[in-house]
Amino acid sequence: MDVRDELHEIINLAMELKKAKDIGEPLKGKSLAMIFEKPSTRTRVSFEVAMTQLGGHALYLSPKDLQLGRGETIADTARVLSRYVDAIMYRAFDHKMMVELANNSSVPVINGLDDKEHPCQIVADLVTIKEYKGEFEGKKLAYVGDGNNVCHSLLLGCAIVGMDIAVASPKGYEPEKEYVDLANSIGKQSGANVMVGNSMEEAASGADVLYTDVWVSMGDEAEAEERMRVFKPYQINSEVLSMAKKDAIVMHCLPAHRGLEITDEVIDGEQSAVWDQAENRLHAQKAILLTLLG
Ligand code: CP
Ligand code: NVA
Repeated sequence: MDVRDELHEIINLAMELKKAKDIGEPLKGKSLAMIFEKPSTRTRVSFEVAMTQLGGHALYLSPKDLQLGRGETIADTARVLSRYVDAIMYRAFDHKMMVELANNSSVPVINGLDDKEHPCQIVADLVTIKEYKGEFEGKKLAYVGDGNNVCHSLLLGCAIVGMDIAVASPKGYEPEKEYVDLANSIGKQSGANVMVGNSMEEAASGADVLYTDVWVSMGDEAEAEERMRVFKPYQINSEVLSMAKKDAIVMHCLPAHRGLEITDEVIDGEQSAVWDQAENRLHAQKAILLTLLG
């Protein structure tokens, strides 16, 4: 199956699971190891609850409790965990460690965020967009802010499903070229238009979805002061919202820093889809888990 069909199947499955009353225990006896090098509210709780509701079990593993904290390699950790569990979810500081874990694991590895990507977030985002907008083709998502992990995965996700994406970041904080090039080449086949620039007006104009994320991601704390200054003009507020379509929705992967990347008025406003978006993490995780382990 190609990646486009696979992604559509996962999105549709998540939407079905959201409506389903009783789906039994399809993952009875299955275990998911979850390694978190960084904090998490949504990813941790939604994966753990998803495993429980599907009849399986999830283990929260912090590196300081694992022997990883005492120097055991990620490759050896992968080899050993693969003998116990059916899948490993990993939230890592370094994408290279994610690849190392995947290369040495004999069970599926799920990226629960690293410094380059946040794919599970984008599955839930696409579920939310489909719920609100009905389809992807002919729609435009404007991402305003840091060209970070969420932005990279949005570029790929939008390109795969054929939705236009326009990114507006401050100079020097654009998404990495590798992701922009990949999104462009996927977009050529799916019909998605991919734009990356510095103008919020250009990105937001005619947008069906306005999306933002924090200015200081986990791991970027040392740059916080500089980032606060540079990103200040890139806030989603009522003025920016008025540049988008009248029925545009506002999205944020959360956690939000109210008053910085997004105002209270917008995140709590009528056009905000963020709480549905957060809920959809649960349904999306279930669809991902069932696709891998069901
Ligand atoms: N959006 C998201 O991944 O949130 P957490 O960091 O709380 O998991
Ligand atoms: N870009 C943010 C996303 C948090 C879910 C971070 O990496 O901290």
